[in-house]
Amino acid sequence: MTKRQTISILGSTGSIGLSTVDIIQRHPNRFEVVGLTANQNLSELVRLAKALNAKYAAIGNEALYAELKEVLSGTSIIPLAGEAGICEVAEANSDIVMSAIVGAAGLKPTLQAIRRGATIALANKECLVCAGDLMLEEVNRYGSKLLPVDSEHNAIFQVFDQEHASDVERIILTASGGPFLNQTIDELTDVTPEQAVAHPNWDMGAKISVDSATMMNKGLEMIEAYYLFPVNRDQVDVIVHPQSVIHSMVEYVDGSVLAQMGTPDMRTPISYCLGWPDRLSTGAKGLDFATLADLTFVEPDYAKFRCLGLARESLINGGTMPAAMNAANEVAVDAFLNRNIGFLDIACVVEKVLEKFDMKAPQSLANVYEIDKQARIMAHEAIACL
Ligand SMILES: NC(=O)c1ccc[n+]([C@@H]2O[C@H](COP(=O)([O-])OP(=O)(O)OC[C@H]3O[C@@H](n4cnc5c(N)ncnc54)[C@H](OP(=O)(O)O)[C@@H]3O)[C@@H](O)[C@H]2O)c1
Repeated sequence: MTKRQTISILGSTGSIGLSTVDIIQRHPNRFEVVGLTANQNLSELVRLAKALNAKYAAIGNEALYAELKEVLSGTSIIPLAGEAGICEVAEANSDIVMSAIVGAAGLKPTLQAIRRGATIALANKECLVCAGDLMLEEVNRYGSKLLPVDSEHNAIFQVFDQEHASDVERIILTASGGPFLNQTIDELTDVTPEQAVAHPNWDMGAKISVDSATMMNKGLEMIEAYYLFPVNRDQVDVIVHPQSVIHSMVEYVDGSVLAQMGTPDMRTPISYCLGWPDRLSTGAKGLDFATLADLTFVEPDYAKFRCLGLARESLINGGTMPAAMNAANEVAVDAFLNRNIGFLDIACVVEKVLEKFDMKAPQSLANVYEIDKQARIMAHEAIACL
C-alpha cells in the first residue's frame, strides 16, 4: 500500500490550487493536508481549510488576520498571515508543496520549502524565470525535487529520456496561440481585459490568461524549460498548436519525436506530480481520437506577439534580463487588467524596461530582489510616459 503523503498548497484558492484540491479529495486515503495559503480570498481559504482539515491557514493580506482568527476560532486550524505566515506554511513539515502562487511573490515561500528538502510541485513559473540558477543551486544543496506542473513541462517530463539527455535534439513547446491567434495586430489595439482573459482552451487565473493572450506565457515557459531540463538555450522551440491536444514534444537525434497528449485539463499534470511516480485517476476526460478532426501546427507570429520575442531574447542573453522582464510584465499586466494601459502597451513597457538591463548574472537572491524592485519602478515610469 502507498504511504499517505502530506501536502501543503501555496495559492490554494487559485485555479491550480482548486484543481489540486480536487485531486486530493478524489484520493482521501493518499493525501493529508498540512497547510493552505491565499492572498485576499478569506472565505474560500476558510472553506478549504475546514473541508480538508488543514493544520494551518495563511492569508497574505495581514489586514485580514483578525477576521481569519475569529472565523477559525473553535477549530484546530492555526491562522497565520502576511508573507511570514505563508513562509511558515512552506516551512511546516510536509512531503509535497504545491507552489501555485502567481508571480514573483511565490519565490520566497517556494525557496523555504526547497530548503527543507520538500518535493515541489512547481506551477509558479515566474520564480524559475527570476532566479533559475539560484533556485537550482538550492534544490541541489538541500536534496529537494522539482516536479513540473505546467502542462507543457509536465508533458516533456513524461517523455524526456533523462538518462540519455545528449540524445535530445530539441524540446518543442506547444502554444495554443491564445484568444487572439487569428486577429490582426490592428485589431488588438482596443481589446479589453475580458476578451484577453477568455482563453479558448484553458480555464486559468487572470494574469496567466493575459500572458497567454500576449504569448508572454510561452516566453516564460521557454525560460522555465531551459532550467527544468538539461538542454542548451537554443534547444527550446515553440510551435503554435491551437487545439491544445499535444501538450509538448521532445525530438531526439534519430528523428523520433515523442509527444504527450490529452484533453486540456490541469488535473492531469497536477496528479502526475502529486502521485509521481504512480499515476492517479483525475476525472479528466479521455481523448476521443475519432472526433479530433484536425491537429494543426503553425510558426508563432513574432511581429504580432512581441512579448514572445522579448522573452526569447531574455532567454538567450540571460543575466538580469529574465528577472527584469518578468517584473515589468507583472506590472504591465496588472495595469492592463486595471484598464490603465492598452493590450499592445504591455510589450512596449516590457521592451522599455529590458533596454536598461544587461547580461550580468544575478549573484545572489538579494540581487534578484533588487532587480525585481528596480524593474517594477521602471515599468511604472514607462507606463506614466505612455
Ligand atoms: N491556471 C493554470 O492553468 C496554470 C497552468 C500552468 C501554470 N500556472 C501557473 O501557476 C501559478 C498560479 O496560476 P493560477 O492560474 O492558479 O493563478 P490564480 O488563479 O490567479 O491564483 C493565484 C493564487 O495565488 C494567490 N496569490 C496571489 N497573489 C499573491 C501574493 N502576492 N502573495 C501570496 N499569494 C498570492 C491567490 O490568492 P487569492 O485567491 O486570495 O487572491 C491564489 O491563491 C502561476 O504562476 C501560473 O503561471 C497556471
